[in-house]
Amino acid sequence: MNPETSDSAGPAPATQSQEAEILAGLGKRLIVLVGMMGAGKSTIGRRLAARLNLPFVDADTEIEVAAGMTIPEIFEMHGEPHFRDGEARVIARLLDGGPAVLATGGGSFMREETRRRIAEKAVSIWLKADPDIIMRRVRRRADRPLLQTADPVATINRLLGEREPVYQHADLTIGSRDVPHDKIVEECIAALHARIFDNAAVAAANSMSSAK
Ligand code: S3P
Repeated sequence: MNPETSDSAGPAPATQSQEAEILAGLGKRLIVLVGMMGAGKSTIGRRLAARLNLPFVDADTEIEVAAGMTIPEIFEMHGEPHFRDGEARVIARLLDGGPAVLATGGGSFMREETRRRIAEKAVSIWLKADPDIIMRRVRRRADRPLLQTADPVATINRLLGEREPVYQHADLTIGSRDVPHDKIVEECIAALHARIFDNAAVAAANSMSSAK
């Protein structure tokens, strides 16, 4: 079965021209996915990039390459503040790399400077997932140092409490649920198109009124 057409109950598939219009409207900007661990940033980001014919970049992977060690090793050997500084530097570099879909680590958007850079150089999407979905997904892997606690559920809830008020500053919010990935990708495409074209329409209206 073609995965692109398997979800017949979902919203109408985005048209080719919608995708081309998003690319044209983005210019040099990136699409940046933010949100909690387990929200699906890498999975959705990879598929979104394929749909838009853009490169996909994963900030966590880039940090590991730059450091020559894994994220748990960075936390263990150098601590979280060192990891956060490296993360901010790597994301700043990636944001200068031109159009791409960038999946960021769950804590990176908490840094004001990184939010400012993302606002300048990207359209951001918060993939918003409920705690039970996050818990179910992160339980499968033991590579999140922040969750190596006595009570990971309490840790997730605390992090959500701290982070959700900040994640909501992303340009767009898409609910990440247990539905086929392509449905979430369709919703991202529709939201990106609306955002880019609403903004273009406002800019055009402003320039027409200032030309009068
Ligand atoms: C973190 C999320 C992880 C990784 C690191 C810290 C966080 O990335 O950057 O373990 O603070 O939420 P993912 O969100 O890709 O799991």
